Amino acid sequence: MNRNELCWCGSGKKYKHCHLAMDERINEMKFDFFKGQVRPPHRIINNEEDIAGIKKASVVNDGALDLVSGIIREGIDTLTLDDAIGDYLEKNGGVSADRGYEGYPRNVCISINDVVCHGIPSRDTILKSGDIVNVDITTRVGKYYADASRMFMIGDVPLNAARLVKVTKECMELGIAAAKPWHFLGDIGAACAAHAHKNGYSVVTDLGGHGVGKDFHMEPYVPHNAKAGTGMLLVPGMVITVEPMINEGTYKVTTDEKDGWTVRTKDHKLSAQWENTILITETGTEVLSS
Ligand code: MF3
Ligand code: CO
Ligand code: CO
Repeated sequence: MNRNELCWCGSGKKYKHCHLAMDERINEMKFDFFKGQVRPPHRIINNEEDIAGIKKASVVNDGALDLVSGIIREGIDTLTLDDAIGDYLEKNGGVSADRGYEGYPRNVCISINDVVCHGIPSRDTILKSGDIVNVDITTRVGKYYADASRMFMIGDVPLNAARLVKVTKECMELGIAAAKPWHFLGDIGAACAAHAHKNGYSVVTDLGGHGVGKDFHMEPYVPHNAKAGTGMLLVPGMVITVEPMINEGTYKVTTDEKDGWTVRTKDHKLSAQWENTILITETGTEVLSS
């Protein structure tokens, strides 16, 4: 691209005043094929307008998670939560990205105890004391998506379950802290997994994080068990999720054959997950969800 043409990012600025310097820096780098190091494609680099849009979606998504923290309790069924979230999103200019996604039937995913992710809200699923519950919401506002999940503890939760929830949150936070511009994607998974393993837990590898923003699931796939220095180069403007699924027992998971969605631990031991949408900035990262 010519220096005086409009930048490929859609900012409306001339290339020389926009992403030329970044492209030059990338072009000077040596990518190690054996470490799977690759350059990020332009389509996953967001401009300021994109970032503002993703932030708007994040605010609504966070609001829906805040709403959940106010109403989730022992004895509530998960479809009531799903309905309340749907109403909240609609009132706030958002729409569930889950509903209809590859035929998914509800607004959100609610995953309890041995359910790793993609639990389908149901009138028959009633929260009980001792449950650990992940509520995962993805909101679209206009063209832009934000994706986040939190864990909730119902009533009296056994110590081992509470510890899993706490350590999993730390895994996410350490993963986010390891995400830095001009470093590599594998640094995130290396940090998540080191903390999980140190605590005697395993890391789910069949599912992971993803680019998000201009679409629900974009490149890159974000592994939560990886080697530092491997995978895609991280550069300012990339937006990804960090969403480690951490298990008490085996890392192996199975998908429910009847509903085609519900992912459970193979040994039926507990699993926890936290998820944030993050932006790679010039200096580090900004958590767009909370
Ligand atoms: N929100 C999930 C994620 O973190 C994806 C849910 S897809 C659905 O990527 F179809 F199950 F809703
Ligand atoms: Co999610
Ligand atoms: Co996600």
